[in-house]
Amino acid sequence: MNVDGKPYRTIWPGADGCTVEIIDQTRLPHEFVTVVLRTVDDAVHAIGSMQVRGAPLIGVTAAYGVCLALGVDESDEALDAACDALYASRPTASNLQWALRTMREVLGGASPPDRVAVAYETVARIADDDVASCRAIGEHGARLFADLARDKEKQKGAAESLNILTHCNAGWLATVDYGTALAPVYAAFDAGLDLHVWVDETRPRNQGASLTAWELGQHGVPHTVIADNAGGHLMQHGRVDVCITGSDRTTGTGDVCNKIGTYLKALAAHDNGVPFYVALPHSTIDWRLSDGVAEIPIEERDSREVTHVSGMGEDGSVVTVQVTPDGSSAANAAFDVTPARLVAGLITERGVANASSEGLASLYPEQAV
Ligand code: MRU
Repeated sequence: MNVDGKPYRTIWPGADGCTVEIIDQTRLPHEFVTVVLRTVDDAVHAIGSMQVRGAPLIGVTAAYGVCLALGVDESDEALDAACDALYASRPTASNLQWALRTMREVLGGASPPDRVAVAYETVARIADDDVASCRAIGEHGARLFADLARDKEKQKGAAESLNILTHCNAGWLATVDYGTALAPVYAAFDAGLDLHVWVDETRPRNQGASLTAWELGQHGVPHTVIADNAGGHLMQHGRVDVCITGSDRTTGTGDVCNKIGTYLKALAAHDNGVPFYVALPHSTIDWRLSDGVAEIPIEERDSREVTHVSGMGEDGSVVTVQVTPDGSSAANAAFDVTPARLVAGLITERGVANASSEGLASLYPEQAV
């Protein structure tokens, strides 16, 4: 996607062949800054501190972290140590484990001195696969939006803008390019569909207000940022036609783990008859799991993300302020699980499936046991 008219991916290999570059998402929307990762520790830090975030991008960054480690030491011990450190950097997104598993499998068949080259080739394939998956998700989702817009026009007797609500950031910044939940928005918008996006601010880290709003604005997509608690009210008043989010981990039965607050939006959507879709690539599906609430590990992050907020001060500098009284404790679960029964459909690179074992098996028969 473009930033000020210049095409970017969110991560790319450095021209020197031994570093990796990223967009520092902790500095957006106020500053666009790129950062060079030189070591596996830099990659672990980038993931843990959320300079890079979003399930697919975390996976690709971890895979690049393996390349950076092997650039110093190609031994099995170095590979194990790198994978262990990267694996622990964030616990919830399935893509991170999937990417590290893929790297291990391929590198298991490569010996020094070929390992680094094989590692870079593999991560390039993983990144390109993510881009292709997101593009395909965009095409499938855009068809669905066009159908919803046609139904709305029939019902209202005149063409009206399609109102789409999204939570967190599942745009191109969360992937290598295009995004998951926002890929259909971009594809439909580029095809000329009249649409508008309600952007949940997504406390505590405000990925909606700072990242989704920024990238939609860069692409010229009409959008409005809302407080997280506003979605239910908008749905009751017929001002949301469809919800779409991404996912950090989806069980083989269609339960969806995503940014904290997603479940509440799905409940409100269910109560108001608004279809709630989830967009995800194959690398997000954890086929081993069947009960998302019981089985998916939920990351607990620093309570300071709840007690403090950052933003641009009146003089243009970024400031952080405390919003809670001294001494109040805060809890910060970063994700929640939306049960499959609340999900209208899963939009994947292979098409749209029911959120169920049967639905997913129809798209991924090779995974059926
Ligand atoms: O904590 P984050 O910002 O990494 O959480 C990201 C999300 O929850 C996204 O919605 C999810 O990764 C799906 S994105 C393609």
